[in-house]
Amino acid sequence: GKGNFRHFMEKEIYDQPEAIAHTLHTVIDPGTGVATLPYPLEDAESVSKITILAAGTSFYSGLTARYWLESIGGVACEVDLASEFRDRKAVLPKGGVVIAVSQSGESLDTLMALRHGKSLGQKVLALVNVPESTIARESDGVLLTRAGPEFGVASTKAFTAQLTAFLGLAIALGQARGHIDKDEVLRLVTALEGVPGRVAEALKDTSAYHAIAHELSRAKDVLYLGRGLSYPIALEGALKLKEITYVHAEGYAAGEMKHGPIALIDEHVPVVIVAPSDGWFDKTASNMAEVRARGGRVILLTDAHGAKELGGSADHLVVLPDVAPEVAPILYSIPVQLLAYLAAVEKGTDADQPRNLAKSVTVE
Ligand code: M6R
Repeated sequence: GKGNFRHFMEKEIYDQPEAIAHTLHTVIDPGTGVATLPYPLEDAESVSKITILAAGTSFYSGLTARYWLESIGGVACEVDLASEFRDRKAVLPKGGVVIAVSQSGESLDTLMALRHGKSLGQKVLALVNVPESTIARESDGVLLTRAGPEFGVASTKAFTAQLTAFLGLAIALGQARGHIDKDEVLRLVTALEGVPGRVAEALKDTSAYHAIAHELSRAKDVLYLGRGLSYPIALEGALKLKEITYVHAEGYAAGEMKHGPIALIDEHVPVVIVAPSDGWFDKTASNMAEVRARGGRVILLTDAHGAKELGGSADHLVVLPDVAPEVAPILYSIPVQLLAYLAAVEKGTDADQPRNLAKSVTVE
């Protein structure tokens, strides 16, 4: 049940420290810190390319994973929407592996894409939350997220569990392929093991969110911006908001603003900026200045350092615990989920059962 929570979505948001910790330890041995590779990735050096196929929120975990698999794992990686991939004459190399990502393991688009990948000679790894699902059964290997059952239509804990599994996978691949050295493996594993604690901290005090959620619930349009590892989190934030509050929202790569969407900005458009202090921070800061110069309302999600630099010029500020930049997308999922959830509560929409949507989409 939902215990003392108002909705499953709220409970599932608060389940995340545990969901992440459980998933973490299926990939990384808690005693030795060694990350192990599931079949068909265990022969890491012979993997020529990874193609990630998914829909919705699971697609955004794939977009995040691409950064990790390339920069940490040293593997070429592409991510495609399952519904697009199957009708595309993709050219995939020998030795390629498809990762089909799905909370339910039942999304028909993702299942059809998996079958198409197989027909193109790829081995398939399923990253699913339901072990006995169709996608798990039809794949060559399975990597389980251990988020526990997810009932809210809006995916939350399954997403951060997917991210956790993907980062663990990237570390294991990087280690096995000699792309990162021992010290780097240790640094990343330590950072990842610290995430459940940081997420719990972030969930402790949500007082900063209420005024923001109020504003979002009344907006007509909302933009979410992020760069690099924060870009998929911006996309996810926008999806969460539109899905459960019916407020129109779009996620953009912060650098794309000037190529069009900046025309939308005026004093009625709240802009949520996902900006941990990482290698992309300074550039995101200048995009934030562009938004402000056009009168946009800035909601800044950052850490203590970012708050010191930019807090003064934001209309609202959420300060998150400090983490290594590589794990920031997992932590920054929390505020975008909470904002959408609290905005839905403000507006009185049913976060667990939004109109027109089903928990798993079994039509094409
Ligand atoms: O079960 P799956 O991960 O395959 O589901 C994919 C999407 O339908 C799902 O993530 C959807 O976008 C969620 N409702 C997002 O909150």
